[in-house]
Amino acid sequence: MAFFRGLTAVSRLRSRMDLKSQLRELIPEQQDRLKKLKSEHGKVQLGNITVDMVLGGMRGIIGMLWETSLVDPEEGIRFRGLSIPECRKVLPTAVEGGEPLPEGLLWLLLTGKVPTKDQVDALSKELLARSTVPAHVYKVIDALPVTAHPMTQFTAGIMALQVESEFQKAYGNGLPKSKLWEPTYEDCLNLIARLPPVASYVYRRIFKDGKSIEADDSLDYAANLSHMLGFDDPRMLELMRLHVTIHADHEGGNISSHTGHLVGSALSDPYLSFASSVNGLAGPLHGLANQEALLWLKSIIQETGSDVTTDQLKDYVWKTLKSGKVVHGFGHGVLRRTDPRYLCQREFALKYLPEDPLFQLLSKLYEVVPPILTELGKVKNPWPNVDAHSGLLLNHFGLSETRYHTVLFGVSRSMGVGSQLIWDRALGLPLERPKSVTMEWLENYCKNKAA
Ligand SMILES: CC(C)(COP(=O)(O)OP(=O)(O)OC[C@H]1O[C@@H](n2cnc3c(N)ncnc32)[C@H](O)[C@@H]1OP(=O)(O)O)[C@@H](O)C(=O)NCCC(=O)NCCS
Repeated sequence: MAFFRGLTAVSRLRSRMDLKSQLRELIPEQQDRLKKLKSEHGKVQLGNITVDMVLGGMRGIIGMLWETSLVDPEEGIRFRGLSIPECRKVLPTAVEGGEPLPEGLLWLLLTGKVPTKDQVDALSKELLARSTVPAHVYKVIDALPVTAHPMTQFTAGIMALQVESEFQKAYGNGLPKSKLWEPTYEDCLNLIARLPPVASYVYRRIFKDGKSIEADDSLDYAANLSHMLGFDDPRMLELMRLHVTIHADHEGGNISSHTGHLVGSALSDPYLSFASSVNGLAGPLHGLANQEALLWLKSIIQETGSDVTTDQLKDYVWKTLKSGKVVHGFGHGVLRRTDPRYLCQREFALKYLPEDPLFQLLSKLYEVVPPILTELGKVKNPWPNVDAHSGLLLNHFGLSETRYHTVLFGVSRSMGVGSQLIWDRALGLPLERPKSVTMEWLENYCKNKAA
C-alpha cells in the first residue's frame, strides 16, 4: 500500500480514470521517490553491496560463474586467460599471418587449450557436417513480413531450430543431471553449425534475390558464412574470421551472455536459451549498437560531407547528445579503456582499408568524442567499444545493409554462450535466482539502519 502513499488528493479524485492515465499520474511521483532514495541512501551498505548497486543495474556485484572469459576494466577481454593480441598470435589461421579461425577460439573456450591446426580443421568439418537446417525453419522465417527486422527473422529461425533439441528429448527421457552436459553439447554444436545458413537465408531473403547459396565444403566456418551471404573477396573472409572471433564471448554479465545463462539455468534447452540471448543482443544499448553506430557515421557524412572539420564534428556530437541520444559505439558497462576489440579492428582497417572515408571519420571521432563524453561528467568510460568499428568494415566490403549487422554479432555470440552452457550443465550450476526488493523495503531498511 505504501506505493499509493504519495497519491495526492487530486489524483484520488481522478481514480475513475482509465488505467494508462492513472499510471501517467503515478510515474513522476515514483521517479522522484527513486531519485530521493539514490541521493539520500545510495551509499548505504546492504551486506557487501550498496543501495546504489541494487538500483544501478547490479554494476560491480560479483554474482555468477563464467568460465570461458573474463573482462579486466583496464586491459579488456581475456579468453581463457588469453588477450585478443595473444589469440591473434597463437590460434590457428587459414592464411599465414592472418586472422584466427573462430573454430580455434571455440576449442579454446571449451577446453582452455590452444588447439592445433589439425584439430581446428577437423572441427570445421564437424560443424559443416552438422549444418543441415530442416526445411520448416525457412518456412517459419518466410511467414514473417520481409520488412521484419533481420534480428526478428533470425531469432524466429533459432526458435524453429529448437524443434530438434536433443536436450529436450533427453530431459524428457529422464537423463540424470550428471549427464545433461552431453545433449547440451550436441545442441550447442548443432546450433553453432546451423546459424550461418539461417543467418545468410535471412540476409538474402531481405536484401538480395532470395536465392540461397550452398555452403562450400572447402571453407572454414567464418569463410562459409561470408560465402553464403554472397561475399567471396579473400579480405572479407579474413574480416569475417576476425569478426566472429572477437564477438564470441565477453564474460558473463553482458545482456546476451547473462540472458543465455539465466534462461539455461531453468534447464531450458540451448536453443531456447540462445534465442533469449539474441533478443537481448537486439537492444540498441547492446548488440544493436553496431547498427546505430554505423547509421550515425553515415548521417555525419550525409550532413557535412566527408571533408568534415574537427569543429563540425564537435558540433555534431553535441547535437546528438543534446537531442537526448547516446553516442553509440562509445562507453561500456565494465571497460574503462579503449576496447581491444576496437583496436584490433582498427589494425585490420589500417592494413586493408586505410583510405575508407568512414574509417577516416571514425579515426577523427576517436579524438573528438572522448573529451566531450568526459565533459558530460557522468560517463564512466568515454572510449570507443567494439560496436564503433565493426559496421564500417563490413560496409567497406559491400555488406552495407546496416540493419543486418547485429545478426553477425549473434552468430558469433553463439560460441561463447554455447560453451558456457555446456560447462553450466557439466558443473551442475544451479537455477539462477537473485533476490529483489521493493523501494519500500529499501526505504525501511535505510531508516532502520540510520536509527
Ligand atoms: C554501454 C553503455 C550502455 C554502458 O552504460 P553504463 O554502464 O550505464 O555507463 P555509465 O555508467 O558510464 O553511464 C553513466 C551515464 O552516462 C551516460 N553515457 C554512457 N555512455 C554514453 C554514451 N556513449 N553517450 C552518451 N551518454 C553516455 C549513460 O547513459 C548514463 O547516463 P544517465 O545517468 O543519465 O542514465 C553506455 O556507455 C552506452 O549507452 N553506450 C552507447 C551504446 C553502446 O555503444 N553500446 C554498446 C556497448 S558494447
